[in-house]
Amino acid sequence: MIAKTQQLKAAFDEKLSAVQASAEIDAIRIEFMGKKGAVAALMTELKNVPNEQKKEVGQLINELKQHIEASMQAKLAELKKAEEEALINATESYDESLPMLTQEGSYHPITLVQRELEDIFTSMGFHIEDYSEITDDFNCFEALNIPKHHPARDMQDTYYLSSGQLLKTHTSAAQNTIMKKYGAPVRAIFPGRCFRNEKIDACHENTFFQMEGLMIDEGISISNLIYFMKTMLSEVFKRDIKVRLRPGFFPFVEPGFELDIQCLICNGDGCPSCKNSGWLELCPCGMIHPNVLKYGGIDTEKYTGFAFGLGLTRLAMMKYGIKDIRVFNEGNLKALSQFNDK
Ligand code: PHE
Repeated sequence: MIAKTQQLKAAFDEKLSAVQASAEIDAIRIEFMGKKGAVAALMTELKNVPNEQKKEVGQLINELKQHIEASMQAKLAELKKAEEEALINATESYDESLPMLTQEGSYHPITLVQRELEDIFTSMGFHIEDYSEITDDFNCFEALNIPKHHPARDMQDTYYLSSGQLLKTHTSAAQNTIMKKYGAPVRAIFPGRCFRNEKIDACHENTFFQMEGLMIDEGISISNLIYFMKTMLSEVFKRDIKVRLRPGFFPFVEPGFELDIQCLICNGDGCPSCKNSGWLELCPCGMIHPNVLKYGGIDTEKYTGFAFGLGLTRLAMMKYGIKDIRVFNEGNLKALSQFNDK
């Protein structure tokens, strides 16, 4: 048995040293370490070894196993490295004159709606701001007048990173940074991906898009807010849109509203799409709370402003008649590529 174990080791070493490509390692693993492999056969034979030798032989076989595993791993790492290097150094050549074989790409419906809104708002003097998906408690909550333990946080549970940072729950998280960067007066929109701890179904996603907008200047009032929202929505839906404001509570606006649009399907008569109310909830908004302006370094004696948080995902669903929110993140190209009208 001892001799047999040694022979097997020699046989393994020889085979392994002959291996040229990482893909061949698997065959060796099966031959030696597989269920019906050479080592397993040795283990079965161990039964027949006289009791006083069992311990020694058993130990030898164990050492052999360890040797095989470690050598295979080392060889695999070595080969993979060489293969990667070869791939990097290989001089591939392309014939750029060949026609494209694949289908032309298409824009995601959210991108389409986002771009359309960006065009509309830039034509009204707003500029587009970018903001990160990772932020912190201050920007996402504190600076928006949502102190720790405020019940408004319950609706915005999110994903916390081990660094203490978090994934932003709404685009409002950028308000403070933008106020500090530009001061007043300012008109900006900032689209972005948001995250919340949600149970996913046809209407809820843990990852969705919003477009925030704010306008701060002297003498800004609710009528300015209504005007901009109505103009924007009429452009998006290519028809005159009726809007109404209902009171809505958000700690960072005072007064705060839910902006509804008259149902586009029944023109306000009531139908299943608007749950027979004639109206669809579309965009929370309001006059920026003085505390939020102060956090942003804005003189509240001189300036007022409005902010809105348009649900881009919601808008895309309405515009394109998408009934299930999960379509947006599923990556099904057949479903996502049908909205390119440009
Ligand atoms: N950030 C709020 C939300 O996501 C929406 C909002 C934005 C409300 C701006 C008022 C003003 O729920």
